[in-house]
Amino acid sequence: MPDLSAFPGDFVWGVATSAYQIEGSVDADGRLPSIWDTFCHTPGLVDGGDTGDVACDSYRRLPQDLALLGELGVGAYRFSVAWPRVVPGGAGPANQAGLDYYRRLVDGLLEAGIRPFPTLYHWDLPQALQDRGGWPARDTALRFADYAGIVAGALGDRVTDWGTLNEPLCSAWLGHLNGIMAPGVADPTQAIRASYHLLLGHGLAAQAVRAAAPVPPSVGLVVNPSPCEPASNRPEDVAAARHADGHANRWWLDPVYGRGFPADMRELYGVDLPEHPGDAETIAAPLDFLGVNYYCRAVIAADPGEALGFRQVPVDGATTTAMGWEVHPRGLEDILVRMTDDYGADTLYIMENGSAWPDEPGEDLIVDDPERTAFLDDHLGACAAAIRRGVPLRGYFAWSLMDNFEWAYGYRHRFGLAYVDYPTQRRVLKRSGRHYARLIADHRGAL
Ligand code: FCB
Repeated sequence: MPDLSAFPGDFVWGVATSAYQIEGSVDADGRLPSIWDTFCHTPGLVDGGDTGDVACDSYRRLPQDLALLGELGVGAYRFSVAWPRVVPGGAGPANQAGLDYYRRLVDGLLEAGIRPFPTLYHWDLPQALQDRGGWPARDTALRFADYAGIVAGALGDRVTDWGTLNEPLCSAWLGHLNGIMAPGVADPTQAIRASYHLLLGHGLAAQAVRAAAPVPPSVGLVVNPSPCEPASNRPEDVAAARHADGHANRWWLDPVYGRGFPADMRELYGVDLPEHPGDAETIAAPLDFLGVNYYCRAVIAADPGEALGFRQVPVDGATTTAMGWEVHPRGLEDILVRMTDDYGADTLYIMENGSAWPDEPGEDLIVDDPERTAFLDDHLGACAAAIRRGVPLRGYFAWSLMDNFEWAYGYRHRFGLAYVDYPTQRRVLKRSGRHYARLIADHRGAL
């Protein structure tokens, strides 16, 4: 157990999910395809040919999932709103049935005393907008703001905590640079343009939420910074790690904190940004919070054979999860301190942190997962250490409430605090889930 005395009394304990990873019901009530529907239905792109068509069937199992949240005793739930449900064509009229689903979800949460933390974009761009150019096109950022305003207008009387984008890095770099995620494009110019319009979309959406919400909202961006450490102290590895840091961290944080896009990275990419006057200010609109997703660090070596001149290398003797990601809680403490000291973040939430392991359910589908429990404890220990060093960390959301569709890996990897038996859609808390519930109750009891 981590030392709970470091966490303030009003610390927010939560769990996170995202729409496409859990909802299923992809053609219910007027929803139209997103880029992830298209990607999954293109043979060979997702492990095992898996899709989010059914996923955890959460769209139809709202009461069951609210009960599961109740069993954990969390004080908050981070979910995402599916743009293709709310504005199925990407632009144009809102779909009331789509909005109604999120209203039922939010009302159910509030009734249970659970604070809703919706994220407006967790990678499911309406396919109709992809067909008109997707994130590389400026229009997508404007349409994102329209959609954000619609959701905030509909739910802003009962939701105060809004995330704009989830991990724009993944949308831009994984979706458009190496093409391993939707829309599956591998083109540096498209990737840079996408990155720019994602951040512009964030700024415009923040304005739209603030304008539309009847109650003054708290609006933030959710990024996934990771420490990039040189594999050796050879000058070329040190320089490579600096570029990796630019690619993973500074490219996303500098413009949002008013420093503009980093000059060294502009030079490395060699692609002109589609800048318009006033964009820099829009992108740098003040954040009410910064959301941080943390999974692991990256150890970087120079590699002239790579397009950007660096690559991530394995760490000798490291413990790795089923994803092959190194378990490195210290990196979380380092990142939190950097967000505070270097960028001046004054309100931080861990919006995702968790791990996948080869779970084997025993009797009654109970999973004994000491590795996930240790991962949780060790990362909460890192949070406690960061708080002691003055980091304004206000909450922690474990990834994930339950096993779900893990993007290009399909259902192969399980991150849940609850095990999902896909054939029956039963959810059963794993031992790590029970541990988290106990920890939350203990913190509450200690107050
Ligand atoms: C993050 C994503 C989340 C989940 C975890 C494992 O990058 O935001 O949806 O897939 O990784």
